[in-house]
Amino acid sequence: MPSRVEALDTKTNHQQQVEECVSFLRNTLPFSPEIVIQLGTGLGHFGNKIEASFSIPYIDIPHFPQSTVDGHKGNLILGLMGEKKVAILQGRFHFYEGYSTKEVAFPIRVLSLLGAKTLILTNAAGGLNPLFQPGSIMVLRDHLNFLGENPLRGPNIDSWGPRFPDFSTPYHPKLIKIALDSASRCHIKNVISGVYACIPGPSLETPAETRWLRECGADAVGMSSIPESIVATHAGMDVLGLSVVSNVNDPDNFMPILLDDIIATAEAMAIKLEQLLVDIVKQIPAV
Ligand code: HPA
Repeated sequence: MPSRVEALDTKTNHQQQVEECVSFLRNTLPFSPEIVIQLGTGLGHFGNKIEASFSIPYIDIPHFPQSTVDGHKGNLILGLMGEKKVAILQGRFHFYEGYSTKEVAFPIRVLSLLGAKTLILTNAAGGLNPLFQPGSIMVLRDHLNFLGENPLRGPNIDSWGPRFPDFSTPYHPKLIKIALDSASRCHIKNVISGVYACIPGPSLETPAETRWLRECGADAVGMSSIPESIVATHAGMDVLGLSVVSNVNDPDNFMPILLDDIIATAEAMAIKLEQLLVDIVKQIPAV
């Protein structure tokens, strides 16, 4: 049996898998990306927006999880937006699919180790702030992690980031400003910053849970993005989050939350969100 110290020295499975994946991608990708964009519900076609693209299916990347959800494609695309080197994650993994939060954030850990400095997360969310309407876009200012799990739990790998990372600004103020300025430049209305609450799902919220989430300070609720955001901050990346508010949930006049409605609103907003993303990427200072 290994001694305690030996056991601590032994690489975890996770670390081993991350390192194998990093060396595979280092030898396979045409370049290291600066910016990573993770596409959420309804944005699956954004991959077409980049030039000189190189695409690899998740299934061909060692240790990458596989999406089990319809509408999440499963390709890593690399290319240029202007002169910026961008990686697009076309499809994500969710805690409710049965993945741990470490597995959910696996692609972000790998891309951070390949040198990416900025992460842009997109998702569809339920609005809780009564000022929101279906089709509003919320720029994440902060988050509440109700997953009951943290992807940084377990041995800390000091070369990846600190044991107790600071989260006083989980979403970079400079990126929030860029996103809000881009929205006004692109004449996209109803773009407001707010707090995103991440619940495990897959059951949607009850009226009582909705009231409680609002009382906790959440402006919108969803089932994704926060494991990725936590790992990116730990890795020293700057993070921006954009939620398309697909439905607004009023605990006093609660309506069924239907997946078809969520997808329809997210798809209807795709063109605007794509326009916003293109403008945001242009404004991000080159590294
Ligand atoms: N709740 C949770 N996740 C969601 C919602 C919602 O109302 N809308 C879109 N994703």
